[in-house]
Amino acid sequence: MRLVLVGPPGAGKGTQAQYIASNLSIPKISTGDIFRANVSGGTELGKLAKSYMDKGDLVPDEVTVAMVRDRLSEDDAQDGFLLDGFPRNVPQAEVLKKMLEEWGRPLDIVLNLIVDDEEVVRRLAGRRTCSQCGRIWHVEFDDKKDDKCDACGGQLFQRDDDKEETVRHRLEVYQEQTAPLIEFYADEGILVGVDATGPVEEITRRAMDALRPFQ
Ligand code: AP5
Ligand code: ZN
Repeated sequence: MRLVLVGPPGAGKGTQAQYIASNLSIPKISTGDIFRANVSGGTELGKLAKSYMDKGDLVPDEVTVAMVRDRLSEDDAQDGFLLDGFPRNVPQAEVLKKMLEEWGRPLDIVLNLIVDDEEVVRRLAGRRTCSQCGRIWHVEFDDKKDDKCDACGGQLFQRDDDKEETVRHRLEVYQEQTAPLIEFYADEGILVGVDATGPVEEITRRAMDALRPFQ
């Protein structure tokens, strides 16, 4: 299956992506994760991406698109993939469409995770990520008493772009640039909305139900 997860920052794309991709045995391709890995690795790409990410702005399309094209060309993505965080605007969606059509493997479905702004701010303010295995936690909702990962024991950290003013700016960028994707994919006839409020497992169940016809 070839699918895309869209939704505002903090909608739970990364959280759901880890479960959905593992249920479907397809790779999870997160542009945010790839950028963050480059930032920690100190690569040229990381240095460039960091200057945009810290402000909550989008990394330029040509950089992001080239990175995704390379990743989708890898062996493990030939039989399906889950894209998390890409596309992020209509030009990226158009390039992706053209690229997948040329390869004869168009998208099957786009899941839109629906959640309101207040919940987003609450989720991002309490988010912690494992520096070792990449798992995503929440201080309040996962009742985290220490800063260690319950899965692997790794050290948890808070993302630089989760400061409240940066989160507000990311929400504006989402409204201006990413929300128009909803209409783009609705016109393509492949958009399905998923209520992304409630317990994580419940949302995964809703998402898997929506994906059933494509399995
Ligand atoms: P990216 O990493 O993609 O960030 P984002 O889209 O802002 O999304 P987030 O990762 O913040 O949130 P999420 O929806 O994954 O939520 P999560 O599951 O963590 O992008 C970062 C930056 O990279 C961008 O700003 C940009 O600069 C750059 N970039 C990336 N892609 C790009 C592109 N295509 N083009 C250009 N630039 C790009 O959940 C959030 C928290 O809520 C967690 O703590 C989690 O535990 C908790 N939670 C999740 N679900 C629930 C639930 N049901 N109930 C309670 N808590 C929950
Ligand atoms: Zn971990």
